[in-house]
Formats: sequence, C-alpha cells, structure tokens
Amino acid sequence: MQAVLRPIWKVMEMEAINKETSKINRISGPVVGVSGLEGIRLHDMVLVGEAKLVGEVIRMAGQQATVQVYEETSGLKIGEPITGTGHPLIAHLGPGLMGQIFDGLQRPLNKLADIEGDFLQKGVTEDSLPQDKKWKFTALVKEGDLVKPGNLLGEIPETQSIIHKIMVPFPMNGRVVEVHEGELTLTQSVVVLEDERGKTFGVNMEHVWPVRNPRPYKRRLDLAEPLVTGKRVIDTFFPIPKGGSAIIPGGFGTGKTVIQQSLARWADVDVVVYVGCGERGNEMAEVLMQLPELEDRVKGIPLINRTVLIANTSNMPVAAREASIYLGITIAEYYRDMGYDVLMLADSTSRWGEALREVSGRLEEIPGEEGYPAYLSSRLAEFYERAGHVDCLGNGGEKLYAGHREGSVSLVGAVSPPGGDFSDPITQSSMRIAGVFWALDYELSRKRHFPAINWIKSFSLIDLSRWFGDTVEDDFPQLIQEAKALLGKENELLQVVQLIGQDALSDMEREILAISKLLREDFLQQSSIQDVDTYCSLEKSYWMLKVILTYHQRAQSALGMGIDLSEITSQSVLQRIARMKEIPLEKSAAELKRLVGKINDAFDGLISNWEAENA
Ligand SMILES: Nc1ncnc2c1ncn2[C@@H]1O[C@H](COP(=O)(O)OP(=O)(O)O)[C@@H](O)[C@H]1O
Ligand SMILES: [Mg+2]
Repeated sequence: MQAVLRPIWKVMEMEAINKETSKINRISGPVVGVSGLEGIRLHDMVLVGEAKLVGEVIRMAGQQATVQVYEETSGLKIGEPITGTGHPLIAHLGPGLMGQIFDGLQRPLNKLADIEGDFLQKGVTEDSLPQDKKWKFTALVKEGDLVKPGNLLGEIPETQSIIHKIMVPFPMNGRVVEVHEGELTLTQSVVVLEDERGKTFGVNMEHVWPVRNPRPYKRRLDLAEPLVTGKRVIDTFFPIPKGGSAIIPGGFGTGKTVIQQSLARWADVDVVVYVGCGERGNEMAEVLMQLPELEDRVKGIPLINRTVLIANTSNMPVAAREASIYLGITIAEYYRDMGYDVLMLADSTSRWGEALREVSGRLEEIPGEEGYPAYLSSRLAEFYERAGHVDCLGNGGEKLYAGHREGSVSLVGAVSPPGGDFSDPITQSSMRIAGVFWALDYELSRKRHFPAINWIKSFSLIDLSRWFGDTVEDDFPQLIQEAKALLGKENELLQVVQLIGQDALSDMEREILAISKLLREDFLQQSSIQDVDTYCSLEKSYWMLKVILTYHQRAQSALGMGIDLSEITSQSVLQRIARMKEIPLEKSAAELKRLVGKINDAFDGLISNWEAENA
C-alpha cells in the first residue's frame, strides 16, 4: 500500500496565524523578493509559491521582504503567492530524534526514502518525529507539585543508550493537575499544568523550538574537564574541554572527515549530533552507512542509539546548509538540557559560509573580505557561542527541587579553506572565536603522518593542566609542556640545519632531533585504521610520554658527562620505545612503567661502564 504523504504546507497551515498571501516580485536563485507582507516578522517561516517551498524572511525594508528559500527554486514564477506561517524556523524536539537522519528542515530522510525512493519532492514532508509510536512514560512528578521551566516531569527510555527526559518547556510553569503514565504517543499529554490564573495546558513529549534562538540555561560553568577523544595529539597537546569549541581547518584530503568520524565514535560524550554540511554526497553516504553500525567503545551498543545525523550534501539547495547547522545545534542543546554531554560535529562550516556569501551576493549587500558578508564573523561567533558547559534550567536529576543538572555542548567544526590557505576569512574568523585550533597540514598528510595536526600551528587556549595533574598524574602537565617544548626546539634546529647543515649541531642538539623524531612517529602519529592504537587512554598517553622523556633526560645528562652519542643511541631499549603503541590499553601502565625502569637500568649500566673505563 502506498503511504500517504502530508505536504509540508498542511502541517504549517494548521499553525498559521497569518493567512494573508503576498506575491513574489523577484527571484534570484535561492532568494525571493516579496511585496507587502502585512503581519510578517523578520525570521518568520513562509511557504513560497504554488509548490509551498519552505523559506525564511531574512530582510524587511518598507513593504518589501526578502525570503531565503530552503528548497530548489527552479520553476518558481513571479506572481506566485507566499504565505506566512506565523512562526520562525523551528525544530521538533522529543523522543524519536536518536538514530534519525534529517535534512536541514528536519524531514526524516530515511523514512521519506522508504516512501518516496531516493529523490525528495519539493514541498513534501513527513512528521519529523514518529507520531504514532508509543513511548513508555514514567512520571517524576505528582499532582499538586509546583513546577518551573526545565523541571523534570518524567522519563522515557528512548534507545538502549539514552533516557529521554521530559522537561517543562520554557517558559511554562504552574501546578501539576494531571499525570498520565504508561504507553503514550507524542500527540498525547503526559502532564497537565495549571497556571496562576487557573488556565490549564497539557505538556506533550514533543515541543517546538525556534532554531535561531539559543535554548536557555541557568548559568555557564567553567570549562575544567577535557573531552577525552582517544587521540594522543588532541588529548595531550591540544585538548578540547567539555563544552568548548574547536575548529579543524585543512585542505582537501588532510583528514578532516576522518577526525570527525573518529570523534563521533570515540569521544567521551553521551550524544553525538553529526551535521554533514555541503560536502559531497558520497562522503556523507559513507558516514551514514558506517557510523550507525559501529559500536560504542565502553558499552558495546551500536552508535546509532546515541547519534543524530543531519545530512545536507553539496547537491542540496545551498540555503538549507544554514538550516542544518541551526537544527543541529538546537538538538544538541536539547539533550544538553537533559543533563547530557553532547558533541556536535559540523563538516564543513566553510560550505555554510559559502552559502552565506551566495545569499548575500543575491541580496546585493556590500561585500566584505573575499565577497563574504560583513556579518560572517558575528554569525560564526553566535554559532560557536552556543557551545558551553551549563547549569541546566530546572531542578536536579534525582530528587525534585534538589541539586542541579549539568550538561554540555562541545562543538567541532571542520573548515575547508580553498587551497588549504589559512588566511581565508572563514578560518581567520573561526580561529578568533574557537578556543581550540587543530591545524591540519598538507605536508604531514602527504607523508602519511596522521592525524595530520601540525604541532607548531595548532593551539588550545583552555588550560586544563590542573585537571590532568589531579586526575591522571601530578607531573602529566609538566611532561606535556616538555614534549611541546622539545618539538619547538626541533623546529628551530631544523632551520639551522637547513641553513648551515648537520655539522653545526652539538651532540646534545642531535639527541634533541632524534628524540623529537621518536616523539612525532611513536607518540603523535596514530592511525585511525589500525585497531590496537586507534583509541589511547590518558593513562597510556601519560606513560608513553614518561618513557620518551625519561630517555631524553637520561641521554642529555649522559652526554653532559662526556659519553658518546653513538653509545647512547645504540641501546636496544630504543626498539622497545618504538613499539609502545602496540601495547594493549589494559596492560599499558604496568608495561610502560617497567620500560621506564629498563631505561634507567640501561643508562645506569652505560654510566658505570663509562666510569670504569675512565677511572
Ligand atoms: N587518522 C587517519 N589515519 C589514517 N588515515 C587517514 C587519517 N586521516 C586521514 N586519512 C587518510 O586520508 C584520506 C582523506 O581524509 P579525509 O578525512 O577524507 O580528508 P578531508 O575530509 O580533509 O578532505 C582518508 O581517506 C584516509 O586515507
Ligand atoms: Mg571531508
């Protein structure tokens, strides 16, 4: 039987407050001019043309409004009608989000593909969330309770990994007058509230939120804990805190997508929202096919249980890239509000910036740098500012009115500057906003040094050393500093070598070059493909650094005594250092600790021989 599709305007018209229609008087790609829209506000969602394409009012001047259309506008004609919906671009929030694949307008792509085949018709939709599915609602309130925005009303097991919390939607509050537990659909009220004036209203498991408005919280909390990713170069050299934001700029093929996929899989978070924005369809298809099947590292549950995918490939209308970014961050904030740690990945923010440039050009705005609109930076800043570690609205987790609930949204955006040139406006603007910068390097990827994160150009502005010292080992922050300093020194020495050759270096300097090479190849390099080393714990990272730096310190002091560099570098213990990656995580601390002992023994032996010979 052919399932019946509801055209998107049917859904919208029910909610429409403004039934006045206006006419299209200008069409320029994804941008449409409209005359005389009475009662329409800036950022309202409108239905464009006979086909009722979804659009958003992005400019109003006098009697003329400009609409950005999120669907393909070919075939649209001057004079066709435009209808207001009376509300801005919204996201539907509730159980059923997890495991879905949406487009930027939150149309469920997997469901539509089942019904329609691979190509979406314009103006057609399905409900974003399944309306007929029953969810088991368990209440956390009882009749008579007073509740405020964000208070927990109840819970639903959404997937194997996620308990979905139903909260009092902002800005509702009042007294609980009815509670309905059991198997319910999204169209039924789970709790009925009565406000001060005696007016009652039902709270359903689903509610809507305007995607351009950040969801409220009580207050921001410090960024004091790292988001552990399992990638050594990130976790030790350039860590991202939970609630922080990072950008990954890099040219084509430098590994942006691989890093994001690996974060989606390994990063220590409860929920992942993956937005594929304007990249090629086959790459996105790969993510869509592979990611859901992979398993969670800790619990062994398929990742699809805690992942939401938003797909907006390069062949989809450009304006919808903007919608997919805002939809993604809104869903991320929603799960944050439940008290979860959420990671949103956007691949690639450059494609969004390019969409802004195209629309701005059509609007004939005065262009800024390289044709990008002057508001590019502020738009990016508003987006990255939605990352954060917060004290959520409402009460705590377990006991009503007690304690508090913390959640975080961490944001990682890929940036793809043309030719890998970081001076481009999107990289520069994003770099000023995000606290963490993982600069991918074409040369490194060419040499197959992965992750190709350049250790000189990258940075993390958030100081997490206290956490590392308290949680892992006291001297961890110090080891990290020493390792970074070594590579900085290597960089200087290599410049000297380039100018005047190896001969200019002392033995101590040569040892620095040798140990730096080891640090790069046997610590920073980490394949995303080889199994045993794909994920590295902080504990193992610590011991790997301890091994390398113990060797370095002992080597430098032996050189200081006058021992030959060749004697130092011919020690067999070096080969064991080069194989540290292969040690399984659970054995790594014990084995690497022993290796530190072996290094000390080897040097003690070397020194006593030397002393005997030179006595
Ligand atoms: N961490 C990694 N480990 C192993 N190979 C990698 C890694 N990162 C990237 N690669 C290789 O580089 C190729 C391009 O990476 P990709 O992430 O698609 O680049 P980008 O998204 O920057 O264009 C991958 O197909 C893979 O062969
Ligand atoms: Mg890519």
